[in-house]
Amino acid sequence: MIPRPAPTAGDTAWFVEARFGLFVHWGLYALPARHEWVKQRERLTDAAYHPYFARFEPDRYDPVAWARDARAAGMRYAVITTKHHEGFCLWDSALTDYKAPNTPAGRDLLRPFVDACRAEGLRVGFYHSLIDWHHPDFPVDGLHPQRDDEGARAANAGRDLGRYVDYLHGQVRELLTGYGPIDIIWFDFSYPDLVWGGKGRDAWRSAELLATVRELQPGILVNDRLDLPGSADFVTPEQEQPRGWVTVGGAPVVWEACQTLNGSWGYDRDNLDWKSPEQLVRLLVDSVSKGGNLLLNVGPTGRGAFDPRARATLAAIGEWTDLHGRALYGATASEATPPPDCRYTRRGDRLYLHLFAWPFRHVHLDGLAGKVAYAQFLHDASEVKRQPPALHPSRPLSDTVSAASRDTLTLELPVQRPDVLVPVVELFLDGNGDGDGDSGR
Ligand code: GLC
Repeated sequence: MIPRPAPTAGDTAWFVEARFGLFVHWGLYALPARHEWVKQRERLTDAAYHPYFARFEPDRYDPVAWARDARAAGMRYAVITTKHHEGFCLWDSALTDYKAPNTPAGRDLLRPFVDACRAEGLRVGFYHSLIDWHHPDFPVDGLHPQRDDEGARAANAGRDLGRYVDYLHGQVRELLTGYGPIDIIWFDFSYPDLVWGGKGRDAWRSAELLATVRELQPGILVNDRLDLPGSADFVTPEQEQPRGWVTVGGAPVVWEACQTLNGSWGYDRDNLDWKSPEQLVRLLVDSVSKGGNLLLNVGPTGRGAFDPRARATLAAIGEWTDLHGRALYGATASEATPPPDCRYTRRGDRLYLHLFAWPFRHVHLDGLAGKVAYAQFLHDASEVKRQPPALHPSRPLSDTVSAASRDTLTLELPVQRPDVLVPVVELFLDGNGDGDGDSGR
């Protein structure tokens, strides 16, 4: 049985069809260019962090180019950091001075992004940090940049979390009223178990925040980081691939893995941990084969551009998605168990065999004998021959290379692996199951 997540308050239909989205982490941390947690990791004070605000001048910011790159990569939606943990706001919030219009950027940077995405046919989501390491009422806690500063800790008495949370709710209201229909709100994150100053649903007043979100944007999708069990439209495993369809309390849910290009979300100049395009396509396929989405991150530079490595990677992924969209959009998990080093995705009567490793001449598909009417490579529609099952038991070659079971369909592969990042065989399932499928080689 293919899992069917129970309906939620938001509209997940477009989301599970879309399968592939762009995550953008962009803020002041693009200037130090050593991870978006740099303020926290290096215990920087507001004063030490201020140069990045004073010098934030993204003269190459071209959200139309970003949206085009995303679209060309095969992405169908984009989620941008309106504010990350550093507290800096990309939009012209009436509730703070700590915003892009007050930097050399001199303007609201969010609106052109939203407009560009819409023009490119991308759905739009806002990532919004629950945490805020700049707001004067956000308490110094065990995660805060000033966690080791005794003076700052002592000053906590003067910090009023309630006032910060009013600000948080007020900003979410701004974001969900000022920019037209928004498809996703991606809150980040709760840490109720942190020993010193943990924060979860009580601290954020999550239930109230969620009610505001649903009232302002019916249909919007809300992620699972508000610490409100049962409230999420989708679940967000981060920098790890689940072993199967994600479940919560034993029930399957809509889910989206978020992954980086190089381990960092913000632009990280000296980080060389880049994943290859092939690895990234596998992550995408792996997610869809387990019924999930992939949200792939780019951290633009301080000048506002996608750096050349990111662009090249997106372009390479786009070459693959362009030819393999049938195996991706609107596709989901299959009941069939794939051979080693392979994944299946399924859409209607088509089953897609994604080959992560290239076997020599044969691949054996358990349970599919008599169920496949035709097989071809997806990238060029060249036929992939099937060995007739009738011959299996008596033919020595087949006995050797085929699995023993009569239920196994064996495909004949060329010795040369097709020159695509992940080769895919498109299997046309024979709906009536009369065995007709294997006769017409
Ligand atoms: C996190 C991190 C972070 C990143 C994010 C994306 O929890 O704090 O910097 O924005 O998750 O999933």
